[in-house]
Amino acid sequence: MKAIQLTRFGEPETLELLDLPTPEPGVGEVLLRVGASGINFADTLMRRDRYAITPPLPSVLGNEVTGVVAALGPGVDGIDVGMRVAAPLFATPCGFGGYAEYALVPADCLIALPDTVSFGEAAALMVQGLTALHLVRRVMPEGKVVLVNAAAGGVGSMLVQLARRAGAHIIAAAASSSEKLAFAHSLGADIGVDYTQPNWIDTLTEALGGKGPDIIYESAGGAVTAASLQVLAPLGQIVIYGALNIQQFDFGVPELLRLIFNNQSVTGFAFAPLLTPESLKADLGELFDLVGCGELKVTIGGRYRLDQVAEAHHLLESRGSMGKLLLVPHAETPAADPAP
Ligand SMILES: NC(=O)c1ccc[n+]([C@@H]2O[C@H](COP(=O)([O-])OP(=O)(O)OC[C@H]3O[C@@H](n4cnc5c(N)ncnc54)[C@H](OP(=O)(O)O)[C@@H]3O)[C@@H](O)[C@H]2O)c1
Repeated sequence: MKAIQLTRFGEPETLELLDLPTPEPGVGEVLLRVGASGINFADTLMRRDRYAITPPLPSVLGNEVTGVVAALGPGVDGIDVGMRVAAPLFATPCGFGGYAEYALVPADCLIALPDTVSFGEAAALMVQGLTALHLVRRVMPEGKVVLVNAAAGGVGSMLVQLARRAGAHIIAAAASSSEKLAFAHSLGADIGVDYTQPNWIDTLTEALGGKGPDIIYESAGGAVTAASLQVLAPLGQIVIYGALNIQQFDFGVPELLRLIFNNQSVTGFAFAPLLTPESLKADLGELFDLVGCGELKVTIGGRYRLDQVAEAHHLLESRGSMGKLLLVPHAETPAADPAP
């Protein structure tokens, strides 16, 4: 089978397209013919060895896949060849293996896909959808003025919609271009502000009638985190779930004093430690239902063949993407997969 292997850390070009033996499913495993494999920002960090986890070398990256069951290992019950499934590899002991034509998956982590959800949509709902879902549960936006930073990204674009659905009073979206802000607006944001502009917090405060947001969902890091802390309303809460520019942020005495005197809180967030096998299936089921009934829109920002993976990594790292990027390793998607 064709697969993308990481043999050394570095630039996107270190991702190599190779012919590897198609794996044989062992006890309790299935072989999945990959329909779509999610590309996440975290993959770019792993590729550079700047992520919390260092992948062993060589590795096939890719921690979320969807597709069709192609073969069953011994002892697998309740799963049939030909089933459409989602496989959250990030919740398995191996954790990777998605950037390939076929992936080996423990059978007990598979989640059946309803006919209303495509392979691409389901891939987007795993890391990014679950992150957005857990974020709005952890810091509830009902009745609040909310700021979503990086609002056109994979997580951000779903956060805007889920915050709206959860009853946010006003949603402000921050992003780096007018095109991204228009996209966030199309998903339900009321206000858009370009946070690459020097006076963006003044623009935001003015648009909010002189007040700051009660809740800020923050992942940009660096100067954006610092400015977000400045604009947060008294009693407000900033939840930090990513730090794309973590090296550039200083948190010191002035920031601490501001937090104290404004009764504000800073919350860290990571979705993976919150998952259990049962909650994972229930939460993905909830997201599949929302997409199936049209209440949540997944935007696919790009589909890439395996040999184009470096292009996708470059796009993520250059802030060029909107929505979800996918690897689609087979030229033909099975007819059973609904669009998009
Ligand atoms: N804590 C968790 O459990 C968890 C789970 C999933 C993801 N995350 C993290 O959350 C963040 C967003 O994930 P995502 O999947 O939504 O990523 P994404 O689709 O790649 O979007 C990230 C957005 O961040 C903005 N950005 C700001 N500075 C950037 C930089 N230096 N390089 C690249 N992008 C930059 C870009 O928007 P603008 O151009 O508009 O600024 C970009 O669209 C990442 O840091 C990811 O690792 C955390």
